[in-house]
Amino acid sequence: MTTEVTQARRAEAPVGASADVHVRFRGVAKRFGGVEALKPIDLDVRRGEVLAIVGDNGAGKSTLIKVLTGVHPADTGTIEIDGQMVKVDHPDVAKAHGIETIYQDLALVPTFDLGTNFFLGRELRKRLFGVIPVLDVERMRREAIAVIQDRVGLAITNPYTPAAVMSGGQRQAVAIGRALYADAKLVIMDEPTAALGVEEQEKVLAIIDRLKAQGVTVIVISHNLEHVFRSCDRIVVMHNGHKLAERDRATSTRAEIVGLIMGSDIRQEA
Ligand SMILES: Nc1ncnc2c1ncn2[C@@H]1O[C@H](COP(=O)(O)OP(=O)(O)OP(=O)(O)O)[C@@H](O)[C@H]1O
Ligand SMILES: [Mg+2]
Repeated sequence: MTTEVTQARRAEAPVGASADVHVRFRGVAKRFGGVEALKPIDLDVRRGEVLAIVGDNGAGKSTLIKVLTGVHPADTGTIEIDGQMVKVDHPDVAKAHGIETIYQDLALVPTFDLGTNFFLGRELRKRLFGVIPVLDVERMRREAIAVIQDRVGLAITNPYTPAAVMSGGQRQAVAIGRALYADAKLVIMDEPTAALGVEEQEKVLAIIDRLKAQGVTVIVISHNLEHVFRSCDRIVVMHNGHKLAERDRATSTRAEIVGLIMGSDIRQEA
């Protein structure tokens, strides 16, 4: 029965049929006590695409990515990564498969500078006088700057600035650079532009374009439909724990997506 339903949905969605699938969710569900945060979801994330996940507050967007990143492992259903069935029951599992998440707080240490934040947890060391192991602060700074400038595309003007006084866009660049350095193949961003000023938002959108150009798959959760329509290839609309709709950016409009998000509420109330 489940297989028939899945087959039918696949047939309904020819857009995904021949594309190279990076992550495949099948019947993935998650409950928190009495709350069905995620009702069984089928979704294919294509390799190299920028996929937007939109929907109202509490629709299940963050939960959907947290089951993929192992933060809240799914209760039921299966997740395939690169065609391989993976039990994502811990964040390390997702990381081992090249999935990195840029969280809202970005997990930077406020008092540390760029280099030390960049190499947090995998610090580079050298030996003083050939014997005493110490942090190689200069090399960490150099390598961090190189990755952020070359791959993220952000110029670093003052690498000695502690994270606490970096702008939101700079912090985001450090976090994304760190993910790329860890060889991320799929980068997830939850509301990357929400807390930023206009200029910083532009930088983040440029970073998303750059990730795509490097063949990295990107999943972006966003409430900002203008940004979604500028940087995403496809849009998934979530509502009340369901995947309500899936649209190609090229053949959809903001009005349609707004209608889906709002219309779903009207149907829900009816
Ligand atoms: N750790 C948790 N414990 C209990 N309930 C949770 C937890 N995380 C999420 N929920 C509930 O699951 C539902 C979906 O939440 P989720 O965070 O996925 O929504 P969202 O679409 O990301 O919303 P927003 O746009 O506000 O970030 C909500 O009802 C929420 O209260
Ligand atoms: Mg959320």
